[in-house]
Amino acid sequence: MAPIIRIVNLTKKFGDFTAVDHLNLEVEEGEILGILGPNGAGKTTTLLMLTTVIKPTEGTAYIGSYDVTKEPDKARTLVGMAFQEPKLLWVDSPWDILNWHAKVCGLTPDERRKRVRWVLEELELWNDRFKSVHAFSGGMRKRVEIAKILIQRPKIAIVDEPTAQVDVVGKHRIWNMLRDLRYEGSTILLATNELYEADALSDRVAIMHKGKLLVCDEPKKLKDSIPGGDVVEITLEKDASDKVLEELKEIPRVANVLAIKQNHLKIYLNQAEEVLPKITEFFMRMNVQVRSIRMSEPSLDDVFAHYTGLTIEEAQRE
Ligand SMILES: Nc1ncnc2c1ncn2[C@@H]1O[C@H](COP(=O)(O)OP(=O)(O)OP(=O)(O)O)[C@@H](O)[C@H]1O
Ligand SMILES: [Mg+2]
Repeated sequence: MAPIIRIVNLTKKFGDFTAVDHLNLEVEEGEILGILGPNGAGKTTTLLMLTTVIKPTEGTAYIGSYDVTKEPDKARTLVGMAFQEPKLLWVDSPWDILNWHAKVCGLTPDERRKRVRWVLEELELWNDRFKSVHAFSGGMRKRVEIAKILIQRPKIAIVDEPTAQVDVVGKHRIWNMLRDLRYEGSTILLATNELYEADALSDRVAIMHKGKLLVCDEPKKLKDSIPGGDVVEITLEKDASDKVLEELKEIPRVANVLAIKQNHLKIYLNQAEEVLPKITEFFMRMNVQVRSIRMSEPSLDDVFAHYTGLTIEEAQRE
């Protein structure tokens, strides 16, 4: 089956700065594809080109069979977007916004009544439905933005940071509603800088950094693909010298060492049970005291670090 979204060399420049750099990616019908990347990776810029809000500098994307640069009007008929920064409208209560949206999307009055009520109740906005969104918290505004997609049920739902600022209960509710939306037939493309959200929700995750796609695959495959299946985090009493770091890498079955800080190391290794005693011995021999040791399963952050040498948090700070 042909992919429902095909992104071909998609590029966006703002002046000399390349925000999205020759991106190639295909989204299959019915999947949830997460684009994961730190602030400034180019996620929103990509989504805005797919929804024809901004024009590519180079390359293009096909939404269904429509080229976004040649047939933007037709491409738009297939997509619905929940924006990262919800736009404020002239109507300002959730009730008016959602009813207006439902009308624009062509729902019959009967469907409209049912769906608007259901979505408002599910997202716990029912009691606030007549209040002005100007007075809403960030998380509440975000829920109104997501509600639009859940009412529209577009063929392709494009959601940008769907749960930013939403509390934990709200996050889980939105994730479940997005999963349901997919089961009802929508394809979902979501951008996020939250590792857990990308992992929990996506069938495949595309990792982006500095406008480029680093890798795209199922979360489990991504995590299994990094050398060193076990991750050990070690905090030291003092900074490790470069010599210590070099020699640490030489210990058999240690695949890689990432210094988050000079005294906070992430060690990727195989057969941790056997190697861990060797590592503690090594630090003793080098006269470096270990403050704590923690073992963990590899996360998408470790995948990101494998490709960039940075954790997502560090990349955000850069
Ligand atoms: N209209 C614009 N003019 C100039 N630069 C822009 C414009 N829009 C985006 N950029 C720049 O392009 C880069 C990518 O921005 P984008 O919003 O796509 O990132 P993002 O991955 O969505 O980040 P975040 O996680 O913060 O939402 C950033 O460096 C941003 O400053
Ligand atoms: Mg963004």
